[in-house]
Amino acid sequence: MSSADSFIDKLQDKQQQKGLLADRIRTKEMDEDVILDVDNLRKFFDIPVPFETTWFMIAFVGAIVVFAFEQLIGLILVGAIIVLYFALPYIPPFNKRPKVAHLKAVDGITIKIKKGKIVGLVGESGCGKSTAAKTIIRLHEPTSGAVYFKGIDINRLTSDEMKEIRRHLQIVFQDPYASLNPRATAHDIIIEPFDIHGVASGDEASYRVLTLLKDVGLAPHHAYRYPHEFSGGQRQRLGIARALALEPDFIVMDEPVSNLDVSVRAAIIQLILELQKKMGLTYLFIAHDLSLVKILCDEVNVMYLGRIMEAGTSDEIFESMMHPYTKALISAVPIADPTKRSKKIFLTGDIPTPINPPPGCKFQTRCPLVSDVCRVEEPIARWYSESHVAYCHNIEGGHESPDFFNQ
Ligand SMILES: Nc1ncnc2c1ncn2[C@@H]1O[C@H](COP(=O)(O)OP(=O)(O)O)[C@@H](O)[C@H]1O
Ligand code: SF4
Ligand SMILES: [Mg+2]
Repeated sequence: MSSADSFIDKLQDKQQQKGLLADRIRTKEMDEDVILDVDNLRKFFDIPVPFETTWFMIAFVGAIVVFAFEQLIGLILVGAIIVLYFALPYIPPFNKRPKVAHLKAVDGITIKIKKGKIVGLVGESGCGKSTAAKTIIRLHEPTSGAVYFKGIDINRLTSDEMKEIRRHLQIVFQDPYASLNPRATAHDIIIEPFDIHGVASGDEASYRVLTLLKDVGLAPHHAYRYPHEFSGGQRQRLGIARALALEPDFIVMDEPVSNLDVSVRAAIIQLILELQKKMGLTYLFIAHDLSLVKILCDEVNVMYLGRIMEAGTSDEIFESMMHPYTKALISAVPIADPTKRSKKIFLTGDIPTPINPPPGCKFQTRCPLVSDVCRVEEPIARWYSESHVAYCHNIEGGHESPDFFNQ
């Protein structure tokens, strides 16, 4: 395993544990923290292997001791160590740089989200859902492409212009604990966006905080509690209140209940639905629990290894799914009716690393229908209705048409 692979594995574990928004890291060679994203990951791995300064120091001190007794030999040794210390990083084989890794967590996808709808984004862990969502609200900068919000390409906006749009685009994270400042009270957490955007201050801001707490089912006395004093469900309510503070139009719900106890999930989902209706919100709802997506979403996008595999209305995806990957995902959903049994399709192996994705169809290494063409050609869009599209060489019907989702 290369150093790049093992580093990314560790990063992924940390991300999953902590639900990190971005990974700021500092290395000995850098003056500033860097955000590890697809682009500067390359720069990070391009750093020369650091030399073992300790060994040079031991040799240097030894040379000084020799110098004390045998002045000429000692002087030559000290000089040679100093020259080696500075010259070695440029002399082969010591100038080797670790392998450069390119990672495309999301690769040229298009997702259309209509106002007032709940659009689902589903797929296994690590397939690129969070990266896609954060890119949509410009928490990640895409290497190329555009994100249109109300007809404006937000990636072209200046930071001042973006600040205004940012109010309308919010996110609720999977792990509210990691995304809330542990040293701030609920009141201060909710009031912070008001300060940043100059929306309200003083009594008006505090009044709005209390209203928001009420909207998400918390009590006024919760305002002066710290995140660790809340239960998991209450913390997620707080995360939702903060996302609502600036009266957004669009919220990414990034697996908002996956970290919660089953007993509180239903209440949070109920709240998310009520708020959407009451405030006319639009959601991108990310989940790997498909039964939840079935209940909540108007439309569903199925993602695998940074690409869309199938998309359609909720009915189309759950009742007449076409793609082998969608079929496998849906076959794993438990059915409440004991008289009905679905035939489970077991996918073997893990999702491949996005650093080295297979050519042709991205799903080929795990697909039960794989054939020769899948290994060389990426499938193009096949449409089964105006809204239902799937990407597979080996499924019947529909008609092929210029691409929309994967470009
Ligand atoms: N900041 C990052 N730096 C390097 N790799 C990342 C970073 N964020 C995500 N990844 C990698 O990109 C892939 C997609 O991650 P993510 O979007 O979090 O998937 P999902 O949300 O579907 O679980 C994973 O392989 C993950 O390890
Ligand atoms: S294109 Fe081939 S590998 Fe990909 S989903 Fe279809 S049958 Fe499977
Ligand atoms: Mg995620």
